[in-house]
Amino acid sequence: MSRRRARQAVTTAVPVVVTALLAAAQPPTAGTVGAPGVGDPYFPLAGNGGYHVGHYDLTLHYDPDTGHLDGTAVITARATQDLSRFDLDLKGLTVTRVAVDHGTAHFRRSGQELVVMPYRPLSKGRQFRVTVTYQGTPEPVTDPDGSPDGWIPTDDGAFVAGEPQGAMTWFPANNHPKDKSAYDITITVPQGRTAVANGVLVGQRTAHGHTTFHWRQSEPMAAYLATATVGKFEVEQYTTRDGIRVYNAVDPREASAAAPVLKKLPSVLEWESKLFGPYPFRAAGSIVDHAPDVGYALETQSRPLYDRAPDLSTLVHENAHQWFGDSVSLATWQDIWLNEGFATYAEWLYREQHGGKTAQQTFDALYARPASDELWAFPPGDPGSGANIFGTPVYARGAMTLHELRVAVGDPVFFRILRAWATVHRYGHGTTAQFVRLARNVSGQDVDSLLKTWLYAPGKPDLLP
Ligand code: ARG
Ligand code: ZN
Repeated sequence: MSRRRARQAVTTAVPVVVTALLAAAQPPTAGTVGAPGVGDPYFPLAGNGGYHVGHYDLTLHYDPDTGHLDGTAVITARATQDLSRFDLDLKGLTVTRVAVDHGTAHFRRSGQELVVMPYRPLSKGRQFRVTVTYQGTPEPVTDPDGSPDGWIPTDDGAFVAGEPQGAMTWFPANNHPKDKSAYDITITVPQGRTAVANGVLVGQRTAHGHTTFHWRQSEPMAAYLATATVGKFEVEQYTTRDGIRVYNAVDPREASAAAPVLKKLPSVLEWESKLFGPYPFRAAGSIVDHAPDVGYALETQSRPLYDRAPDLSTLVHENAHQWFGDSVSLATWQDIWLNEGFATYAEWLYREQHGGKTAQQTFDALYARPASDELWAFPPGDPGSGANIFGTPVYARGAMTLHELRVAVGDPVFFRILRAWATVHRYGHGTTAQFVRLARNVSGQDVDSLLKTWLYAPGKPDLLP
């Protein structure tokens, strides 16, 4: 009741505010409204048009006992068009204030869109800062494939994984891999819990029963790769021979199973660096949580996140994503095989070069599956919808595609292609069309029809003659 009275007081007593409200209600000039999505057919509302985010500064307080999250996001962005209004993606939670530069901005919520109307329109090219203050109990989203995604509470904290959509469950974002940004993530949790995000730990301090962790991800990162995972963790830190700062956080319940695998991380990163080129980030590591209901691991940038102790193949896979997926990012979710096919093929290569099955044997065993098998249900370059992006064809037939390319061009050229891909698109984006062109240019061979068949033809492809 007192709140209603307060609102009345504002509208009747302050004419300036009324004028501002009326101005905001005018239809914005055509061409000055930032689009509510970047135009990805699989996730039409993912990301937003009209600006590019250079930096996210997230300050979070999380209480694992109540599940309550308090957040402030300071987003530094540049307008890529004139903007009378623009969107951020945010699902659930309560927004208490939005400011653009130093002025309070009007905003409204509409599904996963947080619509922001700056007091004065922003002109194209202008750098601006959006501050969003918010709080509430974050909840995961359910992906089209049925998996939970986003801020997923656990018995001692939260497992925070955002592929493809979940970043918006815990911070306001331009939530599409097309937009990559630097991040500072500062998380305060009760003393005794550890909060692990991406990049380098730049500070940690405990006061009044709470510990604050400040993480910095300097190299560009897609929103879905951000994490702020909280739990009771055993922590191990060291620097590799190549100067990479490693931070491993392990749930004690997974520690004995994880130890022998995590011990191999430096040698896996060295092996991958030899194959794919220098490791792209200054930090590395692992977050091994105990979150048995999640059902997947994620290549969170610089520090993969596991829902249980990983096996060696999974460790190889998630770290291969640091090159393929994290450093070289998707421009559209349809191209997901560029992430999963490559990371899966890295597993095959690792096995081959460490006394296990050859990649050819792995290929043959898969190829032997009958035409009715789910492996051939759709082509990896065209999964058809967001529900299929983590399907078997994306991973396995995606890797088979690379293997067929390797057979066609021979080992030296194939490995030159892999390395060139990671180098040319480092910290940026790559599309399937660009990969096909690169493979053709590096090999000097017409590999187009082979790649197109394996990537786009429905059903089980014929083998090379
Ligand atoms: N990219 C993860 C991997 O390396 C899989 C993420 C699955 N996520 C999901 N929402 N189903 O395999
Ligand atoms: Zn993967």
